[in-house]
Amino acid sequence: MKVVQTQKLSSNFKPDHILSIDQFNQVFLESLFKETARLKNKKILPSLAGKIVCLLFYEPSTRTLASFDSAVKRLGGETIIFNNPDDLSSVAKGETFADTIRVLTTYADALVIRHPKPGMAQLAANISDIPIINAGDGIGEHPTQALLDLFTIWEAKKALSNLKGLLIGDMLNGRTVHSLLKGLSFYKNNIVYLLSPKNLRLPKELSISISKKMRLVEIESFKDIPKNCDFWYSTRIQKERFDDLEEYEKIKNKFILTKNLLLTYGTEKTILLHPLPRVSELSMDLDDLPQSLYFKNQIQNGLYTRMALLKKILV
Ligand code: NCD
Repeated sequence: MKVVQTQKLSSNFKPDHILSIDQFNQVFLESLFKETARLKNKKILPSLAGKIVCLLFYEPSTRTLASFDSAVKRLGGETIIFNNPDDLSSVAKGETFADTIRVLTTYADALVIRHPKPGMAQLAANISDIPIINAGDGIGEHPTQALLDLFTIWEAKKALSNLKGLLIGDMLNGRTVHSLLKGLSFYKNNIVYLLSPKNLRLPKELSISISKKMRLVEIESFKDIPKNCDFWYSTRIQKERFDDLEEYEKIKNKFILTKNLLLTYGTEKTILLHPLPRVSELSMDLDDLPQSLYFKNQIQNGLYTRMALLKKILV
């Protein structure tokens, strides 16, 4: 069995696998973000020419799948896409996860995987000779989303320390907030307010480990939000993680963000992010505000951060 790299990365380190945002540090992120900014502003060279990246998605995706596909192709590489392998690959005939990984890693130079169960990217990494990139493992982590979220905050605020932020929505099941909080905790003097229905609070263990490095404050209503937040990050309630859909229906609309709320409890300098997709938690009247970055910078940055990451791993 291959030993998975867990050490902290230096700026020119070539990671074996990307499984958790915990693998990174400030030095590596700074170098990745510089490369991301370069890619945004320069003619792109086909540095992945001759490389094949397999995208294996056991869960639905729009942005993550399409941006990885686009990132590989813009860098001159090619992709093999397995969307819904449960129905459309030999998994439907009973092939095991491990066998599927063994086969696909033979044909590709890297494998991007999304799976409903936490830990499955790690499991794939344990049996793979090529880099595995976690594109979301159930309620676990979504490290590449955190990269684009952090890059978007950095681009807008010119810093990733001394920030005051608010996360709203499903802290229990939202993998994007799990990775984002870990990433923000690398930096000094950040404070993050968490607003969620009571039964969707951050998992205890995660809350304890992050609180050792960064101040977290759980709040209960919009009225508790400090006025001068640098960013708000909204997430949908993760319906697919509920055993009881009645429970989901009861709480899905508890915290709906509107333009009026943002301008009342935030300021015009408070940037608004959302990993998307949105359902009902983010009112459309927010879309045209200059500080709403989810349809502008954030999804575009998803492409460029993933390009920068692929270059780090494969070139
Ligand atoms: C997120 C995900 O899949 O975790 N979406 C994404 O990757 N952009 C967020 C979500 O599904 O709510």
